[in-house]
Amino acid sequence: MSIPRFVTVCEMGARDGLQNEHSVIRTEDKVRFIDLLSDSGLPLIEATSFVSPKAIPQLADAADVFTQIRKRDGVRYPVLTPNVKGLERAKAAGAESIAVFTAASEAFTKRNINMTIDESIETFRDVVRNAKENNMWVRGYVSTAFGSPFGDAVQPEKVVDVSRKLMDMGCDEISIGDTIGVGVPSQVDELVPALGRDIPLSKIAFHFHDTRGTALANVYAALQHGIAIFDSSSGGLGGCPYAPGATGNLGTEDLLYMLHGMGIETGVDLAKVRDASRFIAGVLGHELTSKAYQALERAVAAK
Ligand code: HMG
Ligand code: MG
Repeated sequence: MSIPRFVTVCEMGARDGLQNEHSVIRTEDKVRFIDLLSDSGLPLIEATSFVSPKAIPQLADAADVFTQIRKRDGVRYPVLTPNVKGLERAKAAGAESIAVFTAASEAFTKRNINMTIDESIETFRDVVRNAKENNMWVRGYVSTAFGSPFGDAVQPEKVVDVSRKLMDMGCDEISIGDTIGVGVPSQVDELVPALGRDIPLSKIAFHFHDTRGTALANVYAALQHGIAIFDSSSGGLGGCPYAPGATGNLGTEDLLYMLHGMGIETGVDLAKVRDASRFIAGVLGHELTSKAYQALERAVAAK
């Protein structure tokens, strides 16, 4: 298997990133952040979540954010929808792409969406059918694929089983999440061929959190198997409030730096992602964790 020449980078900062911030960001700042990300050439920007505002108060303004962002032609702006209520809110705001989300760990699924894995599959069947009747594009997440924050064992067979069920109900793409950033490349080497027996690899994305610094090593492993879709987050924002210890996603700048250095095209302008990160860092008032972002900022300061 040769390494892909083009990789699709899916931006998580406005959703996975801002859901995990202690402070609630003003709607206009979220809109500006997403508009800056749109200017960078990113092909998919997860915009917000139509979840319970009690579960994620940080994204309670989902409808306002979604209606106010500038939608760039050819860019997908998926939103998280945990149930039909979320889907109806998303449709009312004009969303054309959604994401449903479950996991390979029962304990995490219960904490995150108050369902068993089986209940989540049944719930999503209705969500995905309804979305497809409305010509929407649907992503399915399988979280905790490399380990659970609650100590329950996660087997690769369970990841494959949940992924297959999401695919069978009509999801267009499956994103495999290392929610708490515990995965290592040998796990990727085991998981990808197992997934590939049931699902075309062109439909599989990986979503690595960089909690223990293994995210880029895992991307490199997945590239060797032909995976060509990766999730990452501007500046390295991210984490799930229902996964204790989960910190930021792989930084988009880190991912782009490595891919571009390897001669892999993405169509994304790294300096423009940095501009978006710089803007949101100013709003948040704290440092961002992406190493490539930090290096770029140091280079600017040294001039
Ligand atoms: P529940 O309490 O079991 O739901 O929550 P319910 O149906 O009993 O409803 C309770 C209340 O919520 C009701 O309101 C509903 O109307 C309302 P009340 O009568 O009490 O006033 N409600 C809603 N309101 C707005 N939009 C909705 C909605 N649904 C119900 N869609 C539920 C179940 C799934 C709703 C809740 O647990 C939830 O919203 N969870 C979302 C958690 C979340 O967003 N987690 C982070 C995203 S996942 C992640 O980060 C991982 C990922 O990045 C990949 C990775 O890293 O692995 C994707
Ligand atoms: Mg995540």
